[in-house]
Amino acid sequence: MFDMKALKGKNIVITGASRGIGYETAKQLAKLGSNLALGSRTIKQMSPEQFSSYGNVFLAEVDVADERSVKDFVCDVVSTLGSVDALINSAGVGTFANVLDSQTDEFDTMISVNLRGTYLCCKHFGRHMVERRKGRILNMVSVAGVTAIPGCGGYCASKFGVLGLTKVLQSELRAQGVYVSAVIPGAVRSSFWDRIDHQLDVKQMIPVETLAKHIVYMLAQPEDALIDEIVITPPLGIL
Ligand SMILES: NC(=O)c1ccc[n+]([C@@H]2O[C@H](COP(=O)([O-])OP(=O)(O)OC[C@H]3O[C@@H](n4cnc5c(N)ncnc54)[C@H](OP(=O)(O)O)[C@@H]3O)[C@@H](O)[C@H]2O)c1
Repeated sequence: MFDMKALKGKNIVITGASRGIGYETAKQLAKLGSNLALGSRTIKQMSPEQFSSYGNVFLAEVDVADERSVKDFVCDVVSTLGSVDALINSAGVGTFANVLDSQTDEFDTMISVNLRGTYLCCKHFGRHMVERRKGRILNMVSVAGVTAIPGCGGYCASKFGVLGLTKVLQSELRAQGVYVSAVIPGAVRSSFWDRIDHQLDVKQMIPVETLAKHIVYMLAQPEDALIDEIVITPPLGIL
């Protein structure tokens, strides 16, 4: 039912591709022969060869929280690839503390990167897709975007926001040929957790390779029946 071969030659943009889920997804799509535009603040420290030699890989610095930077990124990507078939919004940050103990600047950063960043990329790539009357957008949400998790106030607020934005875009853009879906994972074993002081058992988390496979399947959906959102949890559920 899922036609992975159809991803060969597709032009796919991934934000947050310098590590973690975005990086692993880029590697898998490169092996399938997709042409990739990969963005993050530090992406230029990588070399395109890291992503395989099958498709074309274009690396561009972008800070998704900064509208000027996103607009430049969209221009560079469109002039390099010619067009964009799919966008995966994987750039994201998380810091965790009970709301009353949390730092306001950390709250602001999560809203800026996770919510504003997703909004800006959907808006500016979305306009290009609407002009072509086709395109796919996958937004990385989290189970923290559908569940109130103590100690995750700012992160939950940003991810509930991303899910709300995704649902609105789904209805606004469907009729114009642009399909927007939410990927809602539980804890994934990625570099996300390296910066966080947590008590979770990383061995119980979803392997990043498996999560990336689910993302690739989402992109390979047939256009006559789409998956609006997918919830992917570790075998033990929310950790
Ligand atoms: N890991 C999990 O357990 C998990 C679970 C559910 C959902 N998610 C979500 O999945 C997405 C990917 O998470 P991950 O596990 O891959 O995290 P990660 O390993 O920490 O990677 C985060 C990526 O986001 C990029 N990034 C951060 N701030 C950015 C900015 N302002 N502009 C552009 N890029 C930026 C980073 O690159 P630079 O530093 O180079 O900019 C990096 O490539 C996030 O939205 C996260 O919230 C993760």
